[in-house]
Amino acid sequence: MAEAKLRHAASKDISAIEALLSAQHLPVYSLQEFLDTFWVLEDGGRIVGSTGLELYDDCSLLRSVVVEESYRRQHLGQRLVLNAIEEARRRGVRRIYLFTMEATDYFSRFGFRRCALEDFELAVRQSFQYRGISSIPELASRITPMLLDLAEDAEQG
Ligand SMILES: CC(C)(COP(=O)(O)OP(=O)(O)OC[C@H]1O[C@@H](n2cnc3c(N)ncnc32)[C@H](O)[C@@H]1OP(=O)(O)O)[C@@H](O)C(=O)NCCC(=O)NCCS
Repeated sequence: MAEAKLRHAASKDISAIEALLSAQHLPVYSLQEFLDTFWVLEDGGRIVGSTGLELYDDCSLLRSVVVEESYRRQHLGQRLVLNAIEEARRRGVRRIYLFTMEATDYFSRFGFRRCALEDFELAVRQSFQYRGISSIPELASRITPMLLDLAEDAEQG
């Protein structure tokens, strides 16, 4: 099972990604728009994981990190996240942001730290998730924003 193949997402994968996200109550929106920076895990022709980056100038929002339940705890999520971070670095991204409800400890493993909505740079504030969360206080109170500063990372070697 851990042989699942990591590859770029294509239009034909969108409905499978949407199903994975819906099953985990993660937001489903604008997949086609960000498809160039979306990846999937495929096993035996089945899509069992995904993640995506939304790029905003030299910042990015990491989104849609999901692994199907029967494939978890095999470091597939880690492969998805590290691949996205590497791609962000390659594209000159300075800061990666994300929102999570339950995976704060998980993302800490990759160097993400909790931050405040005020820490989001202007470019990222145009994202669908930022606009939704920042305008609904009840939602904001249940969601943790996180930030990975790649520039800081590079300085520390
Ligand atoms: C979060 C998620 C993607 C992790 O996927 P996964 O493939 O099971 O994770 P990995 O196997 O890569 O885990 C790597 C390590 O983190 C640990 N870990 C896994 N889930 C964790 C969690 N929720 N909190 C803390 N640690 C976690 C694993 O035990 C493993 O530890 P190890 O290196 O000591 O063995 C998966 O649980 C998921 O799809 N959750 C629902 C969707 C979600 O919440 N996404 C995040 C918001 S975008």
